[in-house]
Amino acid sequence: MPELEQLQRAALKAIEESPDVSVLDQHRVDYLGKKGSLTERLKMLGQLPAAERPTAGAAINRVKAVLQAAIAGRRQSLEQAGLEDKQKAEAIDVTLPGRQVELGSLHPVTKVLERIEQFFASIGYEVVEGPEIEDDYHNFEALNIPRHHPARAMHDTFYLSDSLLLRTHTSPVQVRVMEARKPPYRIICPGRVFRVDTPDPSHLPMFHQVEGLLIDESSSFADLKGTIVEFLRVFFENNDLQVRFRPSYFPFTEPSAEVDVQCVNCLGEGHCRVCGSTGWLEIMGSGMVHPNVLEMSGIDSEKYTGFAFGMGPDRLAMLRYGVSDLRYFIDNDLRFLEQFS
Ligand code: PHE
Repeated sequence: MPELEQLQRAALKAIEESPDVSVLDQHRVDYLGKKGSLTERLKMLGQLPAAERPTAGAAINRVKAVLQAAIAGRRQSLEQAGLEDKQKAEAIDVTLPGRQVELGSLHPVTKVLERIEQFFASIGYEVVEGPEIEDDYHNFEALNIPRHHPARAMHDTFYLSDSLLLRTHTSPVQVRVMEARKPPYRIICPGRVFRVDTPDPSHLPMFHQVEGLLIDESSSFADLKGTIVEFLRVFFENNDLQVRFRPSYFPFTEPSAEVDVQCVNCLGEGHCRVCGSTGWLEIMGSGMVHPNVLEMSGIDSEKYTGFAFGMGPDRLAMLRYGVSDLRYFIDNDLRFLEQFS
């Protein structure tokens, strides 16, 4: 049957040349399927004389077996090749350098806050926090600033209701501690404070303060001075840094003093933009806690004395890092922030 041989040859060629499994399947259907050419031949066996049928049948079945084996072989090699292609496509080049993970960094003001906390923790102070939404009593009244006191003018803030406001300083945390605990204690209170101010290089409506409070039976103004001078010398890493206490006024301290440091930029030389050529930088308010304030919070002012101070870490960060404009701190400009990583 040369015709059958021809069919086998053509089929084997088609199978071997199948470019993918679906073409191969199509060939399988064409030759071996229900209506495939080989199947048709088997069906036609009945038309042959009975004597020829066994030989013819056996010949067709042989071809069928050959084609089945060829299809199975081709299928296997196509699948194998597919796997290899896939592996090649998905291969990882382990020699490539790794992708860098971008690390964030602490905000310069956060760094300064941590530095302040570290110093005061080292001399036994505890860090205490208070609410940013305060009531009128803690923010003003209990600090000896009654309703019509002129000191309120400098503390214009954002009112949430008649008696609730965004705190204008961290001093109310002093009151909360005095109300809640019996002295002695030494605490610092870092946090955000708010005042009605239009942003400019040296003002923001939201800024930070760190309050300090020490109360015991023997504290004096000398302790206040010693603590603050030591802090500023450590903070600015300058053991000879000059510090001066200027008499001032706060309703909740008596006596009160404004603390200035020698300009860290010109070291007191003058002709300097940072200190306005005065040679000094105003850095914090301080004083001995007013007896009225102690008494209002239930502390015996005959027995206890204490001192308090309040500083601006944003200002300290400007000085420490040589930043000329407070607004950079809240702009969220990565080019600025990345310099502190
Ligand atoms: N609370 C004062 C202010 O914000 C600063 C201060 C704190 C002064 C503690 C004296 C003692 O202006």
